Amino acid sequence: MTRYIHGETDPVEISRLETQARFLSRWILDGVEIGPGSFVLDMACGTGAMSRRLRARFPDVHLFGCDISQNQLLAARAEQERVRDRFPLVRCTAAALPFFSTTFDAVHCSWLLEHVPREETIAILGEARRVLRPAGVAYLCEVENESLLFWPRNPLLEECFRALWEVQAAGGGDPIIGRKLHGLCTAAGYSRTDVIPTTQHFHAGSPPGYYHAMIHEFAEILRSAQDALPGPLRGRVEQACSDLYDLERQPGSSFTYTFFRARAHV
Ligand SMILES: C[S@@+](CC[C@H](N)C(=O)[O-])C[C@H]1O[C@@H](n2cnc3c(N)ncnc32)[C@H](O)[C@@H]1O
Repeated sequence: MTRYIHGETDPVEISRLETQARFLSRWILDGVEIGPGSFVLDMACGTGAMSRRLRARFPDVHLFGCDISQNQLLAARAEQERVRDRFPLVRCTAAALPFFSTTFDAVHCSWLLEHVPREETIAILGEARRVLRPAGVAYLCEVENESLLFWPRNPLLEECFRALWEVQAAGGGDPIIGRKLHGLCTAAGYSRTDVIPTTQHFHAGSPPGYYHAMIHEFAEILRSAQDALPGPLRGRVEQACSDLYDLERQPGSSFTYTFFRARAHV
């Protein structure tokens, strides 16, 4: 397993995943088609932030979640209790799913592959394919962190984020895996994979609350990985976060980020 760069499953991480799902799910789930009565797996569901969005959008499907982390699943279970909506949660690695072949009509998976060792990526995509029915689709959503651009440019912010992506890559993860989805899915045996680059451009004219929420999201990403950054930068993370929040107050400022979605057909 690679080092999970976002730290522990604590209230901050739970809230970060929730915010991410809250603001990005309208793009992440755009074009996702799942019919009534379908069996759906949210693979690497984490705290269930996206599972709940799937649930809200497709209330008539049989939803299952799975994740390797007991703590993430405990947080997901607690939230299920709070909102009184239970669906099965299974602890397992996505590289060996404990489900029979051809069980699901759709597998949803967001923000997993950047965290897994490179040698496991194709096995994981192959497992998702194995548990899908012949007409099934895997809906994937992954990062392309080199696409992140703040305007006006800020050397400290850029240095901190570049260092973070380097730490992630050195730990076995892949901060630009989104752009590789077509090749990876083809290697895992999918017959057709549609890739959808999805660019977010946040600025003062974004829907109310979005600019601030996404600035906060990236500040939390930086803070969550602070301990992993090289010594000299570690002490400058708070300054970088302060610069990031300051961006919001600068007229004409913006930031842009592209993530990649894929629809991989069995
Ligand atoms: C960034 S979180 C994303 C969670 C969720 N998909 C979402 O969008 O909120 C990544 C999740 O992948 C899980 N994970 C990492 N490696 C895994 C593996 N090999 N099998 C299953 N889950 C894994 C982590 O425990 C974590 O919950």
